[in-house]
Amino acid sequence: MAEKKLGGAGLRGQVAGETALCTVGKTGSGLTYCGYDISELAEKVSFEEVAYLLAHSELPNASQLAEYKARLKSQRGLPSALKDVLERIPADAHPMDVLRTGCSFLGNIEPEADFSGADKAIERMLAAFPSILLYWYRFSHDGVRIETETNEDSIGAHFLRLLHGESPSELHAAVMNTSLILYAEHEFNASTFTARVCASTLSDIHSCVTGAIGSLRGPLHGGANEAAMELIEDMKDADDAEKTLMGMLERKEKIMGFGHAVYSEFDPRNDVIKAWSKKLADEFGDTRLYDVSVRCEEVMWREKKLFPNADFFHASAYHFMGIPTKLFTPIFVMSRVTGWTAHVKEQRANNRIIRPSADYTGPEPRKVPAINER
Ligand SMILES: CC(C)(COP(=O)(O)OP(=O)(O)OC[C@H]1O[C@@H](n2cnc3c(N)ncnc32)[C@H](O)[C@@H]1OP(=O)(O)O)[C@@H](O)C(=O)NCCC(=O)NCCS
Repeated sequence: MAEKKLGGAGLRGQVAGETALCTVGKTGSGLTYCGYDISELAEKVSFEEVAYLLAHSELPNASQLAEYKARLKSQRGLPSALKDVLERIPADAHPMDVLRTGCSFLGNIEPEADFSGADKAIERMLAAFPSILLYWYRFSHDGVRIETETNEDSIGAHFLRLLHGESPSELHAAVMNTSLILYAEHEFNASTFTARVCASTLSDIHSCVTGAIGSLRGPLHGGANEAAMELIEDMKDADDAEKTLMGMLERKEKIMGFGHAVYSEFDPRNDVIKAWSKKLADEFGDTRLYDVSVRCEEVMWREKKLFPNADFFHASAYHFMGIPTKLFTPIFVMSRVTGWTAHVKEQRANNRIIRPSADYTGPEPRKVPAINER
């Protein structure tokens, strides 16, 4: 039936608006932010430069970057009311729910006020999200109240410092930097579209981001990096990986971390994070997870012509840096908040409420029966 097909088609391939922020699957290596190719950004700039680019449409010069980083650094501390809320969230909560609550609560105590305060609110979220996540994590898991203000130069290093209690190595800080760049923006994906729909009602920026976090949480979107880790962690070696995958494919199960709604042959982010995963595996001195990941990639291409998306090799890379699996998707939030909020500003600048229609598939018009006749 036509109606079923439409619903099941997930609006695939339909243009739902305009953006000057990003192209997916169209130019260069397949992904650009404000005209810059992802492979060049990943090689040459910091995540903070990308965050600035998305917020202001141009890369910062040296003094703009220094000021921007100083502003972000100065906003890593958390108000005591927010810490109180975080301390009440149980250890078995999902960290994505913690970030969702943290973001929403920030909107209560530091509201955007009016749209002219958007940039201030965006910088605050970007600076505070790692602190929110790890204040809760360390309090609920280790029973410690950590100091969330650190002197680390980058958001990636700040995150690792709060997690491990010590400054990360140069290698780990560099991997985090690249990872945050790769995840920063991706056009009209589900969570960004959620943010834009919310923005189109002229809602506040914390509501837009809170909704986007909820969309990102699912395993078909951001949650795929955690699901990929759960898949590969039990694989003993490459042959075991092949056997497991063949069984899953035979049972028509989905393999998380593979396939993409827009890319059809490869995900340009994969080569970048795969190379870092290899470096980390060599440093770690145990290549099992890397080897099983490579075999998964081979099997999926051979059997289904499916390729790893950005999430698949992120799983092993994060694991090698000692990051607990349940913190994988929240890292995505720490990065994607830049893309979401850039889209919110873009939507506001040329807004019309997003309100599509549906094809009706329900019963014919009928009369309401009396309660004793139902
Ligand atoms: C990303 C994703 C949601 C895209 O969905 P989509 O656009 O509906 O997928 P496609 O239309 O390309 O799927 C085509 C076929 O490949 C299959 N397929 C797609 N991804 C698959 C996967 N990861 N494992 C097994 N089969 C897969 C689909 O089931 C479908 O098979 P069918 O035609 O027999 O029903 C999907 O590939 C997926 O679920 N991947 C796993 C989750 C993931 O990694 N998400 C992160 C995305 S960045």
